[in-house]
Amino acid sequence: MWTKLKTNILFNKFKYVFKSVRKCRFSTKTKEISFLFKESVNILDKKYVVDEWTNVTPKVVSFVGRNLYLKNGNPLYFLSQGIKNFFKDYDHFVFNDPVVDLKANFDSLLIPEDHVSRQKSDTYYVNKDYVLRSHTSAHQNHCLETKSMAFICIADVYRRDEIDRKHHSVFHQCEGFKLYDNKSPQLIQSGISNIFDNHSTLKTDTKQENHSQEAVRAIESEMKTTIESFIRYLMAEDLPMRWVSAYFPFTHPSWELEIYYNNEWIEILGSGIVEHKLLSNAGYTDKIGWAFGIGLERLAMIRYQIPDIRIFWTNDTGFLCQFENITHLDKIVYKPISSHPQIYFDLSFWLPQDIFWCHNDFYDVVRNIGGDLVEQVKVIDEYTNKKGNTSNTFRIIYRSHERMLTKDECNVLHKKIEQYVTDNWKVIIR
Ligand code: DAH
Repeated sequence: MWTKLKTNILFNKFKYVFKSVRKCRFSTKTKEISFLFKESVNILDKKYVVDEWTNVTPKVVSFVGRNLYLKNGNPLYFLSQGIKNFFKDYDHFVFNDPVVDLKANFDSLLIPEDHVSRQKSDTYYVNKDYVLRSHTSAHQNHCLETKSMAFICIADVYRRDEIDRKHHSVFHQCEGFKLYDNKSPQLIQSGISNIFDNHSTLKTDTKQENHSQEAVRAIESEMKTTIESFIRYLMAEDLPMRWVSAYFPFTHPSWELEIYYNNEWIEILGSGIVEHKLLSNAGYTDKIGWAFGIGLERLAMIRYQIPDIRIFWTNDTGFLCQFENITHLDKIVYKPISSHPQIYFDLSFWLPQDIFWCHNDFYDVVRNIGGDLVEQVKVIDEYTNKKGNTSNTFRIIYRSHERMLTKDECNVLHKKIEQYVTDNWKVIIR
């Protein structure tokens, strides 16, 4: 049994599933939540019958399909790009539908029947047969079915928890997986001729039954080197790291990787040597491999100094514009967005032709006039007529950090901008 109790460190949320030992707060028989859906629940256009296990809520279902990690402008997108770049030689799997059966989420991963992560208090059940995946490990077997020898899979995962600055019922993970056999160059180069040792039938702290100790050592070293350079690449920084022994039902031995940030060690991923039983159940009897699972929000929060996990879900352009068209290598530091509402006005004019003019000239004018009250300026439309004249529509978004702006005061600024461009550039407003 895993022995570590739920600890209260930063980002604890990501750790609880396979480590916490706590009592279920609800009886599995109660119908305390399912009244939220009458007979069935629709998720990505599929209908699921509601039963006494159902505990998904309309709120959590509303997160399904947002696919933040695929949206240019969301920091999770840039991390995902970085991950895909780093693992470019691996197969990349996408599973848009987060509804998986119990076999995928638990059984195939050898998670015991009485494991805390199966409880209704911790996992979102669609009904007695289906859950919203609680980790990307739920797709290990789906990927193995394709006979892939190395893969990654990024997806949204769902866990029941409170929602606050560090916790959200949805977050994103990346699963990584790599297999080797007796023909793998990495093993041959280390002088290892057989990954199995039939004389060594005991499971010890350092290896599974029938694995050869040398092979496990070589795979462990391969895994740790790969993951360490992956993290260095992704964070574009050399943060101190350390490996800590851990327990997961689907790997042995297992480790967590911690990075040192803001004066504390933060756990960022779980990993280990894949349980041979998991591989042989999937039809691989002659292979050995490693796997890891990493949470993306936690990395993004460190990488971009984002203080609140809920911000990833905002559609507020004041947030998204900070991450527009960056690459994962850009050193961006998140600037807090105002809690006051935005007010915007659009301005369309024919672009000047007789003077040397560029868009930055307009942006400077807007900033000069609007000062700190202008949050963003962007081109939202472009039109060229038959004569070859081009007009642009600019959206100017006003917002203050200190107070709520009124439409009237923004309009005064807006009119000044309009006045400036007509007076100085002789442009025609459309
Ligand atoms: N699925 C685990 C979790 O969500 C993370 C994990 C640990 C994934 C070890 C793995 C692994 O692939 O080998 O907490």
